[in-house]
Amino acid sequence: MAAEQSAGSRRAFLRSVGVAGGAGVLYSAMGALGLAPVPDVRAEEYRAPQRNDFALTGRGGKKVLVLGGGIAGLATAYELGKAGYDCQILEAKDRPGGRNWTVRGGTALTDLDGRTQTASFTKGQYMNAGPARLPQSHVTLEYCRELGVELQVFTNQNANAYIYHESSAALAGKPMRWRTAKADVYGYLSELLAKATDQGALDARLTPQDKERLIAFLQSFGAIKGKAGGYAYTGTDRRGYSAEPGAAFDDGTVLSPVPTLSDVIASGVGQRFAFELGYDQAMLMFQPVGGMDAIPYALAKAIGQNRITYGAKALEVKDLPDGAEVTYKDVGGRTRTQRADFVVAAMPPMVMARLKHNLGTDITAALKYAVPTPVGKIGLEYRSRWWETDEHIYGGITPTDTDLATIWYPSYGHQGRRGTLIGYYNFGANAVAYSDLPHAHRLARAVSRGVKIHGDKYRTELDHSFSVAWHRTPHIEAGWVDWPSQTGPEYKLLNQPAGHVYFAGDWLSHVIAWQHGAFSSARKVVTDIHERVMAA
Ligand code: PHE
Repeated sequence: MAAEQSAGSRRAFLRSVGVAGGAGVLYSAMGALGLAPVPDVRAEEYRAPQRNDFALTGRGGKKVLVLGGGIAGLATAYELGKAGYDCQILEAKDRPGGRNWTVRGGTALTDLDGRTQTASFTKGQYMNAGPARLPQSHVTLEYCRELGVELQVFTNQNANAYIYHESSAALAGKPMRWRTAKADVYGYLSELLAKATDQGALDARLTPQDKERLIAFLQSFGAIKGKAGGYAYTGTDRRGYSAEPGAAFDDGTVLSPVPTLSDVIASGVGQRFAFELGYDQAMLMFQPVGGMDAIPYALAKAIGQNRITYGAKALEVKDLPDGAEVTYKDVGGRTRTQRADFVVAAMPPMVMARLKHNLGTDITAALKYAVPTPVGKIGLEYRSRWWETDEHIYGGITPTDTDLATIWYPSYGHQGRRGTLIGYYNFGANAVAYSDLPHAHRLARAVSRGVKIHGDKYRTELDHSFSVAWHRTPHIEAGWVDWPSQTGPEYKLLNQPAGHVYFAGDWLSHVIAWQHGAFSSARKVVTDIHERVMAA
């Protein structure tokens, strides 16, 4: 009764806004009531500061020093610049972007162990050493639109890529296509559930009509037999073919034999399927054409090169009664000091923690509370795109249970002559195991694993390579950080200003290890600063 009444008044309300405001208003009002077919999900409302905000207020943009020219630092200067703030970025490296880094021929890296690599990739070949895939929901795509950064599809999930498990006895050491793994796991799962349903095992939970519909679903989902066939899974062309169907009477040969239910479960391949269900990891995904670093370079250009000082290594941050001061070593080794109304520290927390500052010991402790995650990647350039020509894999990822973690096939340059794979992208202990080695040994180890999946060409077609260990990279020192808690006092402390000093970065968001987190954190700090200036 109450429900009917409220449905009636909901309808009346919708009718009234529909009349007054047109379909758009009606639609968003329906969304607000949870009635629209697709909810209109948005990142937190953000309004960039504008020059106009200062009109007739007697106020103006203040001077802001930004420490770090990664995505958070660049976005801070870019957004504040829209309202005429006088921003200067001090960046320790000789380039913008931080972990957003695309390695091409000639790119060099000297790591914290003093080992130098210079990439010799062929022209047109590159690896995104840091971020490499953009979800459709991320604000990063809005920045690409605003900055004119052209996008192309990044293939995160490919039915033709493999799953490679060597540690379980069943099916061990044989790469299995995702499509085959899915056919078998969904098939047997459907068989079990259909049988249990049909035999009444779920009668306490299901009405007779539910049972009928569930079984109909399972027949479609698992490609299982009907009741007469005992709902058995006996294989399907979804597994793939050992001989493709062709002309006239050639109906191909479906891949066989079908492994047993027990072997499929023991192989663990089904444990991989959750990956593509992750909110951030679902297809479609995107990447900038020509390399991820198109984003920081576009930001740097929009900010103005005269506002970014490269090779500037921060030494000290001092909060003052009416501003803040930064001392740094410039590219020539000279110590310099700059003053500003505000400082935004957009550098990794564990790096910031080592700076001299007068912000208090709680700040240092909070910065050290974030736990750095080791992350590694290797790019392998091949003379031929054998994964496309021989194995029909155009982009996507092969997860493995080896220390490589994953192999990524490039989502650019399809059908070209050469191509660059990611030969490992791993975290934690695996990343440390590789980073302990000099590059040549990392390469040898990665190739020895890859050969088991792809055969000899993984070694014989290899031409150039480059590896990065983010936790051993100067001024960066981690792939990303993890907070033991994001509800405790440490995280809270760093999300508010320490006097005139603000902190920004993906590490101050709930979207860590994504550029979206860095952009969002920058927007928050920009809003905080602008509100403070407008209220002063
Ligand atoms: N954004 C990174 C990636 O997509 C790291 C990450 C992985 C973050 C998985 C969250 C989940 O690889």
